[in-house]
Amino acid sequence: MGILDHHKKIETHATLLAVLSLLVVAIGGIVQIAPLFWIENTIEPVTGVRPYTPLELAGRQIYIREGCYTCHSQMIRPMRDEVERYGHYSLAAESIYDHPFQWGSKRTGPDLARVGGRYSDAWHVDHLTYPQAVVPESIMPPYGFLLEAKLDVKNIEDLLAASAMVGVPYSDEMIAGAEADVAAQLDPYADTDALLAHYPNAVVSNFDGLADVTEMDALVAYLQVLGTMVDFSTFEPDPNR
Ligand code: HEC
Repeated sequence: MGILDHHKKIETHATLLAVLSLLVVAIGGIVQIAPLFWIENTIEPVTGVRPYTPLELAGRQIYIREGCYTCHSQMIRPMRDEVERYGHYSLAAESIYDHPFQWGSKRTGPDLARVGGRYSDAWHVDHLTYPQAVVPESIMPPYGFLLEAKLDVKNIEDLLAASAMVGVPYSDEMIAGAEADVAAQLDPYADTDALLAHYPNAVVSNFDGLADVTEMDALVAYLQVLGTMVDFSTFEPDPNR
């Protein structure tokens, strides 16, 4: 009996074919997936990446709530046109504390992975309030109501605690200090020692210029940190990876 006859036996026997196909797929799957449980780390850790400040984290919630991801991606691909336009390609470690990540798949507007520090706070407030005021041809909708919406700081401890539950290294002290850290990040004249000890290099600013703690403050704080945590003038990829 030649090998083709054996093959015929398998191909004319539905159950046998299903069982053997499953076996082959299972072996392939195990070979790919199992090592991930044993190698220590699948993401190269990078210096500078820290958890979001409570204000930035609250801003991230607003970004998700408003569906900004339906028009904006946050992942710069390692291709020349992308890197020249947006900066260094995104590293996996840069979204290690994002639950869920905001890579996105739709670019009606530009990628925002490195928008932090590119514009002033006032530009962001003007742009979010009425995009056409600063970019006349823009089709982005206005979000001026965020200036009137007071930020719900009561839930902020829970927000940090929930992130801690899924692995973001927020300590009990950081969670307990969340409300104080929100206030400190918004006041350039405040004592920011605790804030900066918890979150190195956090940008301190009254983002929207208003006395109230608004959702606009939170959203702009979030936009201003995007892509700024890693210092790419000193970053070198690990050659062993
Ligand atoms: C309907 C699609 C759409 C939605 C929704 C949208 N944007 Fe935009 N966005 C755009 C477009 C188009 C541009 C480019 C023109 C401009 O700058 O306004 C843009 C530009 C931007 C820029 C400037 C980026 C750069 O590099 O110049 C920022 C920042 C931004 N959007 C933030 C947001 C945020 C935050 C939200 C959610 C609150 C949001 N966008 C929602 C379409 C959108």
